[in-house]
Amino acid sequence: MYVITFATMILPIVAYGDPVLKKEAEEIEENYPDLKELIANMYETMYNAEGVGLAAPQIGKSVRIFVVDASPFAEDDPSLEGFKRTFINPIILEEEGEKWSFNEGCLSIPGIRENVDRQPSIVIEYQDENFELKEERFDGIAARIIQHEYDHIEGILFTDHVNPLKRRLLKTKLNNISKGNVKVPYRMKFPNIK
Ligand code: NI
Repeated sequence: MYVITFATMILPIVAYGDPVLKKEAEEIEENYPDLKELIANMYETMYNAEGVGLAAPQIGKSVRIFVVDASPFAEDDPSLEGFKRTFINPIILEEEGEKWSFNEGCLSIPGIRENVDRQPSIVIEYQDENFELKEERFDGIAARIIQHEYDHIEGILFTDHVNPLKRRLLKTKLNNISKGNVKVPYRMKFPNIK
């Protein structure tokens, strides 16, 4: 008998302005190299940055994987206690309900938060970390986090959802983030660092 072990690693989070964040990510197959390690590293990286979700493009890999741990929101919504999921090759099948506004942030866009309107209820099909096919409905904050992460694998950022006037006002801040002119308590990779 033998056991394969690996040490998990905190990976640098890719900052706003990196082209990988604007790309539609690719599906993966079950034999994707070092998948278990990649997923473990994504959780480690997310927890280290105190995030509730992290998508593979944010660590520079353009593949359709994201991880979510919504337990920090359990104070507001007790159903989120221990809510943790790994989504591989997900497809949002349905989005329903009247749009609601929620203040979003993103580990790739530190220091910026904006209200984003999204529908409250989704049905999503995905493969879990064991490549088992699942179909689930999520509502409220769980749906919100999943929609935000799903956007990442489609090459969409939450700032793409704010109205053009607001986005113009954010431009300088966003440019500064891409250049590394921002204080961040976790490791990042900045695309336009001089
Ligand atoms: Ni994000």
